[in-house]
Amino acid sequence: MKRLFVGFASLALIVALSAFTPAKTPKKENSQPGSSFSMPDSVKAIVDHSCFMCHNSNARGDAKDKLNFDELSSMKGPQLVANLANMAKMIKNDWMPPRKFLKDHPEMALTAQQKQVLLEWIKAENNKIFSEN
Ligand code: HEC
Repeated sequence: MKRLFVGFASLALIVALSAFTPAKTPKKENSQPGSSFSMPDSVKAIVDHSCFMCHNSNARGDAKDKLNFDELSSMKGPQLVANLANMAKMIKNDWMPPRKFLKDHPEMALTAQQKQVLLEWIKAENNKIFSEN
């Protein structure tokens, strides 16, 4: 009878644990196995508005060779860290979108708040990478 109780208790514990773990697991949407990369809608909206048109697989020019948002979600480890760091550098220094381009498209410049959203996202993605390894 005691043995049965212990068995039941540990079963209940396993059920309880597995019920609680999913809440802690980061969202794995549009990512490769082994990568927990994710881009929340708030970030995606900014990237779509100010960056994506030059930095996607079908864009003309060489911007996509330096940073391609279509490929970012399948990156991990050092490659993803390098891309995130590059982005942060460009955003902090107001180097992107390029100044020349903003003369004709001032509405695509990042606001202080948009910069903050992007930089906080980059920091969070970096933290995820380093806590996974
Ligand atoms: C009008 C097109 C255009 C837009 C919009 C644009 N970029 Fe770029 N980006 C470029 C070009 C061209 C390059 C490559 C030449 C260079 O490095 O200046 C580049 C390079 C980069 C690089 C690589 C820098 C390096 O030298 O390693 C990063 C990172 C980057 N862009 C981030 C962004 C981010 C983030 C945004 C949105 C906030 C953005 N870009 C918007 C055209 C654009």
